[in-house]
Parts: sequence; structure tokens; C-alpha cells
Amino acid sequence: MIAATESEYRRFRDLARRELGLDWTRDKKYLIETRLGQRLEQLGMDSFSAYHKHLCGNGGPAELQYFFNTITTTKTGFYRDSSDFDFFRQEVLADLRKQVGFAPHGAIRLWSAGCSSGEEPFTLAFETLEGMVPLSKQEPSLDLRILGSDINTDMLAIGEDALYLDQQMEGLPLPIRKKYFKPTRGNGRTAWQVASNVRSKVDYRHFNLFDRRYPIATKFQVIFFRNVLYYLDRSLRQPLLDRLVNCLAPGGWLFLGKVEAGYSMVGMKKIHTNIFHKTP
Ligand SMILES: C[S@@+](CC[C@H](N)C(=O)[O-])C[C@H]1O[C@@H](n2cnc3c(N)ncnc32)[C@H](O)[C@@H]1O
Repeated sequence: MIAATESEYRRFRDLARRELGLDWTRDKKYLIETRLGQRLEQLGMDSFSAYHKHLCGNGGPAELQYFFNTITTTKTGFYRDSSDFDFFRQEVLADLRKQVGFAPHGAIRLWSAGCSSGEEPFTLAFETLEGMVPLSKQEPSLDLRILGSDINTDMLAIGEDALYLDQQMEGLPLPIRKKYFKPTRGNGRTAWQVASNVRSKVDYRHFNLFDRRYPIATKFQVIFFRNVLYYLDRSLRQPLLDRLVNCLAPGGWLFLGKVEAGYSMVGMKKIHTNIFHKTP
């Protein structure tokens, strides 16, 4: 394995901080050596300095994207931290029904910011479809759209394909699995694909949460922003949170990760350590 010197490591650390806001103060030298070492070999390079030069020069946007895809931590899962989805089902959906119901213009807009490979936005879709069943035939059908955004294009591609292997299906309640997935075979193994009526509700978009402008023209009733903040530089966390609060509609809900406790935002009431409600 090619080793990185301290000063080489610092150059990659600074790039990750500048571009994605990532915090590598806890030593992540092993991360660049293990995750990027292979790339150096593929490109026939023998030092991290040469690769850094390529990354910031001739490699262009494609190499930078490769770098982002390699260094981001993308752990996720269906119904991850399931008590958040219990709260979503019991409190938030009941509130949404009161707020917008099935009125003709009652749009429901949810955002999974930092959605990785799609399990989180799809879980939101299952729960909303299950919880917002029309009470009568007269009610118009649900106007639901869920945005899943991430910087990692490899993960977004998985979300777009909506194909998951057996081990990724753990944590899914059996009735949801039966109702919203169908088996498909490819490369000699079985995968499970999310049903088209769910896929059609989820839009995946590629952008950086630190981009000056978001390609978003709507306000959301719910934002799931879980397990992203934890990886970011402390000084960047609060401004980013305040920005996301601006993307919430009055009366909207914000979910952080379970480990992301201790935050507060103007105009947001803390309901649990990681769940906030915007003043209606
Ligand atoms: C650990 S995953 C969390 C996935 C999901 N929210 C969950 O809790 O299961 C963090 C995700 O945030 C994304 N991410 C990190 N920094 C980002 C940034 N600056 N802009 C957009 N996405 C980012 C990563 O690519 C990764 O997929």
C-alpha cells in the first residue's frame, strides 16, 4: 500500500473540508490510504502528491467526483433508528393530515438531505403511503413528492435503480417488504426492487449541501437530515442547520440523527433531542 506523508494527508484533509465541509480532525490518514490507494495504482501514480496534483488539475470534475464518492461515509438502512419512523408515523403524519389532508392543492413535500443509497427516502415513502390512505373515494389522490439529495453519485445511482440485496432488506417489516418490493434476478443473484408506485414519488438529485444555491423551489413539511452533521466541521454545522430550517414550511418538522444532540435553531421547538418543530 502506498503511504501518505503527514503533509500529503493534510492537503487531502483541507480539500475535503473546503469542498464538502468534512471534519477529519480525528486522524483519517488510514482512510485516504486504504480508499484512495487503489486509485493511485489504477492511474499508475506512486505518490499522494502526484494524485493531489491530478485531482486539482487535469483530473477535472470527474476525478473530484471520484474523490467525493470515495471519501464520504454512506452507511444507511431501511428504518434506520426506527423510533424516528414511529414518531413520523404517529405524530408527523397525523399533523400533515390536519395541515394539508387530501385537499386538491394539499401537496406533501419531504426531503432526505444526505440520502445515501435511498433507503431513507424510500422508508419515508412507505410510511407516508401507508399512513395517508384516503378516507373516502371522494378524496383526491395523494400529491406526494420526496426529494433525496446527496453528493455521492454512486449512492444516488443505487437509489435511482432502487435495487437492494438481501442483507440490505434487514430491518424492513414483512408487510412492507411484501407490498412494496418485487424480486429480480441479475448477475446470478436475487435483488429486490422497490415498486414503481413508490419509485415514482422519489426524485434523486445530486448537489452539495454547501452549494451557494440549492436547486429547490419548494418548502418542505419534513426534512430528514440524519447522520450527516456528525461528519462535518463543527463551525459549519449551525449555519447549515439554519439554512435547512429556511427550507422548511411553517409547521414543518426537522429530524437529525440520534447521535446529533445538543442543537437548537431559532423558530424551532425541540420535541426530542433530535426532532424539531417549526413554529406554524
Ligand atoms: C452516513 S450517510 C447518512 C444517510 C442517511 N441520512 C441515514 O441517516 O441513514 C451521510 C451521507 O451524507 C452525504 N454527504 C456528506 N457530505 C455532504 C455534502 N456536503 N453535501 C451533500 N451530501 C453530503 C454522504 O455522501 C452520505 O451519503
